[in-house]
Amino acid sequence: MIDGIRGFHEQDTQVKKEYFYKRDFKEKVSYFSNFDLCQATVATWKDCLSWAMAPSPPDPTELPAVCRDIVMEYSKQVKRLGCTLFELLSEALGLDVNRLKDMECAEMIFPAGHYYPPCPEPELTLGARRHTDSRFLTVLLQDQVGGLQVLHQNQWIDASPMPGALVINVGDSLQVITNDRFKSIEHRVLVNRVSPRVSVASAFGTNLFPSSKLYSPIKESLVTQENPPKYKEATLQAHVAYLRGKRV
Ligand code: OGA
Ligand code: NI
Repeated sequence: MIDGIRGFHEQDTQVKKEYFYKRDFKEKVSYFSNFDLCQATVATWKDCLSWAMAPSPPDPTELPAVCRDIVMEYSKQVKRLGCTLFELLSEALGLDVNRLKDMECAEMIFPAGHYYPPCPEPELTLGARRHTDSRFLTVLLQDQVGGLQVLHQNQWIDASPMPGALVINVGDSLQVITNDRFKSIEHRVLVNRVSPRVSVASAFGTNLFPSSKLYSPIKESLVTQENPPKYKEATLQAHVAYLRGKRV
């Protein structure tokens, strides 16, 4: 999968132009740099190929030929893994095995194939700014280059690559429905002068924009008299905005 995503990004610009910068994100498959370029105050050093696997997977012909087969296969496998993870997390919380899946946590997957080119002045930029993931869970596949860091006790700690390992990130939406039992974590990506870096982040969630479905902390076992609900009932979009505001 890493080779497939690298293969796409390292193609000739003329070939990639077909997918280039459709910034309206109406298509199932998008190729872009800095989705928030027009709103953010700074830009990051990264290109991205993203595709939506829901409500239905893209037609394979919509995907770039160079990574089409592996993207379809990887997305299928990552969906299976996500379902298993939500089952295990439900059980870990003392809930029915299907509880999180029933809340549509695994309903939609939004995979993104990131490419961080080598950067001549890495101290002046970042591959990804500090952020938390907004959806429920992210399954992250990274190559062996390194650069991912997580904020722990106010210090940036390297999340060094391990061959064959995936990084699983808790997102804001999971933090809300578990009443802070599972917390989303701030992370960022550094760039370097020498090697391009490839990663594939697959976010699990519902459609945040727009969704009127209301979420609040799960009552069974997570909300008790000693542990009252930390969040009101609100849309995930409102919850995410609230958490972002608190972190600023
Ligand atoms: C993300 C992310 C990290 C990486 O896509 O949200 O944090 O290693 N990616 O690319
Ligand atoms: Ni992230």
